[in-house]
Amino acid sequence: MKMVLLGPPGAGKGTQAKSISNRYSIPHISTGDIFRGNISQNTPLGIEAKMYMDKGQLVPDKVTINMVKDRLQQEDCKKGYLLDGFPRTVSQAESLHKFLHLREESLDTALLIEVPRDFIRERMTGRRVCPSCGASYHMKFNPALDGKCELCGSDVVQRKDDAEETVKERLDVYERQTQPLIDFYKNKDLLSVVDGTKAINEVFEGICSILGSHKN
Ligand code: AP5
Ligand code: MG
Ligand code: ZN
Repeated sequence: MKMVLLGPPGAGKGTQAKSISNRYSIPHISTGDIFRGNISQNTPLGIEAKMYMDKGQLVPDKVTINMVKDRLQQEDCKKGYLLDGFPRTVSQAESLHKFLHLREESLDTALLIEVPRDFIRERMTGRRVCPSCGASYHMKFNPALDGKCELCGSDVVQRKDDAEETVKERLDVYERQTQPLIDFYKNKDLLSVVDGTKAINEVFEGICSILGSHKN
């Protein structure tokens, strides 16, 4: 199965992606996690990405698109993949579409996790993340026991771009640059929508019933 996850910052894309990737045995590719990995290793890509991420703005399309194309050509993507946080602009979506078309491949679905703006603040300010494996936790909704990641044991931390001012900028950027992708995928008859305001396990059930018909 080849799919993309859409939704505003804090919608629960990363949270659901971990479960989808386990259930369907496909790699979870999060552009945000790849950038954060590069930042922690202090690579040239990380240094460039950080300038934008700290302000809540998007990393330029060219950099992001090339990075994703490289990733999709790796062996583990042959059986499918889940893209989380990409595409995020119409230009990224068009590039992905062309890339797949040239390889005679196509997406199975673009799944939107729909969460109104009012819900987002509490989710973002309470979020804690694992710097090693990218897992997301929440102080109230999904606490990490003793502040440790249950998948790999690292200490969870707060993301720098979860500061209140940056969250506002990220939401504005989402509305301006990413929301148009909803129509992009609707027009291609690929859009499915799940209500992301419910509890984490209920959202996952909703996703599984949408994806249920896809065998792999
Ligand atoms: P990225 O890392 O992709 O961040 P984002 O899209 O802003 O999304 P988040 O990771 O903040 O939220 P999420 O939907 O994954 O929610 P989560 O599951 O953690 O991007 C960061 C930056 O990188 C961008 O700003 C940009 O600069 C750059 N970037 C990345 N991709 C790019 C691209 N393609 N092009 C250009 N630049 C790019 O959940 C949030 C919280 O809520 C957690 O605490 C979680 O435990 C909790 N939670 C989740 N679900 C529920 C629920 N159902 N009920 C209650 N709590 C819940
Ligand atoms: Mg995420
Ligand atoms: Zn971890």
